[in-house]
Amino acid sequence: MAKLGSTKYAQFCASCHQPHGGGAPGLAPPLGGSEWVSGSPERLAKIVLHGLMGPIKVRDKEWDLHMPGLGFGGAIDDQEIAAILTFIRRAWGNHADPVATSVVSKTRAAAADRKFPWTAQELGGSGIDEKSADLNIVKSKADGTIILTAKLATVLAIKLRCHEDLDILGPWVVQSDAALWHLQALASGLYQVQLLHACDDKNAGNEFVVETDISQLKGKIGSTGGFDQFKEVEIGAVDLKEGTNRLLMRPAGTLTGELVDLREILLRPIGEAGGIR
Ligand code: HEC
Repeated sequence: MAKLGSTKYAQFCASCHQPHGGGAPGLAPPLGGSEWVSGSPERLAKIVLHGLMGPIKVRDKEWDLHMPGLGFGGAIDDQEIAAILTFIRRAWGNHADPVATSVVSKTRAAAADRKFPWTAQELGGSGIDEKSADLNIVKSKADGTIILTAKLATVLAIKLRCHEDLDILGPWVVQSDAALWHLQALASGLYQVQLLHACDDKNAGNEFVVETDISQLKGKIGSTGGFDQFKEVEIGAVDLKEGTNRLLMRPAGTLTGELVDLREILLRPIGEAGGIR
C-alpha cells in the first residue's frame, strides 16, 4: 500500500506538488505541513476527486489557482487515491491517520452529480472569503442572453491572462489553467453556448470542458484559419439555474500546444433544463 501510494503520487501529483511535497511558487502549494493534508480525509478526497479552484490559504500563504480533479477521467481508481492520500499524510513530516478506500468511494458517491471543482470556502477550511464586492457578476440582457467577455473572467491560471488590448484570454498553454465567470441568469433552463474564438490549424483539436454548477459540456476546438481570425462557433448547450451561476472553461485532459484565444462566450436561452448534457 505504501509503495502504491508513493508510485501513484509520483505519477499523478509530483509534477505540480513536486517530489519533495513542498510545492513550487506559482505552480502548486505545499503538501508537507499542510492543514488540508492532515485534516479531514473526506475533504482531502474531495480535492483529489473533483479538483480545487480559487483562493486558498495553505500554511498561511495564499494561492489562487486551479487544480483539475482526477476522479472522473478513469485514470486512477479509489484504492489508488486512498493509497496516495495515506502516503502524503505520512510523508514530509506529516503524521495523520491512513485513509481507507471506503472513504474515497463514499465521498465519490456522495457527490456523484458534481463535476465542478471545489472552492476552499465550500470545503469549510482556512479559505479566504470570496471578496463578493470584487466579483464581476455578469448580468443578462433583457432577452436572457448572457455575454461572458474576456475582461470579465477570473483567471485561475499560471500562464493564461486577459489581454485587454487584444480583448482575449490567452495564451492557453497550461493544462490546469482555467477561466471562471460569475453570471446572473433570468430564468433556469438550457442555454446554447457559442464561443467567439481563434485557433490555427496546427493547434486545433484540443478538447475542452465548459461546466456550470449543474451541467457539463465537452468539445473540441476547431481551426478558425488562424489566431488572427475570430469566429463564432456553436458548441452545444449547458443548464443554468435562475440567479447566480458559475461557469468554468478549462482544457480537458492533456493539452497539446495551445487551446484557443478566447474573446467571448455567449449564452442564449433555448428552453427547459435537463436536455443535452
Ligand atoms: C496540475 C497541477 C496539479 C496536480 C497534478 C495536482 N495538484 Fe494539488 N493542487 C494544485 C493547485 C494549483 C492547488 C491550489 C488550488 C487553488 O489555488 O485553489 C492544489 C491544491 C491541493 C491541495 C490543497 C492545498 C494543499 O497544498 O494542501 C491538496 C491536498 C492537493 N492539491 C493534493 C493533490 C494530490 C494528492 C494530487 C495527486 C493525486 C494533486 N494534488 C495533483 C495543483 C495540482
